[in-house]
Amino acid sequence: MIDRDQIIKIAKEYVFEQLNKDVSGHDYYHIMRVYNMAIKLAKNYTVNLFVISLAALLHDLDDYKITDEASNKVDTFLKKYQVKETAEIVEIINNMSFSSYKLGKSVKSLEGKIVQDADRLDAIGAIGIARCFAYSGTKNRAMYKNDKNDDSSIAHFYQKLLKLPNLMNTTEAKEIAEKRVDFMKQYLKNFFEEWELSE
Ligand code: NI
Repeated sequence: MIDRDQIIKIAKEYVFEQLNKDVSGHDYYHIMRVYNMAIKLAKNYTVNLFVISLAALLHDLDDYKITDEASNKVDTFLKKYQVKETAEIVEIINNMSFSSYKLGKSVKSLEGKIVQDADRLDAIGAIGIARCFAYSGTKNRAMYKNDKNDDSSIAHFYQKLLKLPNLMNTTEAKEIAEKRVDFMKQYLKNFFEEWELSE
């Protein structure tokens, strides 16, 4: 039987191998930030850190944004290592995304809420801005086209990113989110000042 620390170490190596080449903002470093942030947020709560760690490390492996629909890497990994919390972890990963949220789904466990907060925090702030533009680039979307309702990067700020502080589950994440969104608002102010030259 492999011990839990060993499974986490193998999960990190597996995620590195799978997402190392990603250029859409869902690379290995995104995963590690979500993982480390989730552990930090979990400090004030009585939670299962093993569930949090694996849910954070594996959360993007089967995401439709970066893989095909039939992808089943999370379940396969957890079953291979006979993780007894497999169902719990899969449930978190299946319900934590913003697209799941828009479908009315929500994460039920505190472990899930913490991982969801950590993932959402990585969508905002300096890195969130960079990830937003990088993702748009991989989808051939514009950075901005004078329209806040289309599919450009800047439109995405208004459609999703600026709303994230209000969607945080934990007070710790909400506090960090507010600071990051303040910075984004300042960024937008400068962006539009410079943008005026294009008109
Ligand atoms: Ni993610």
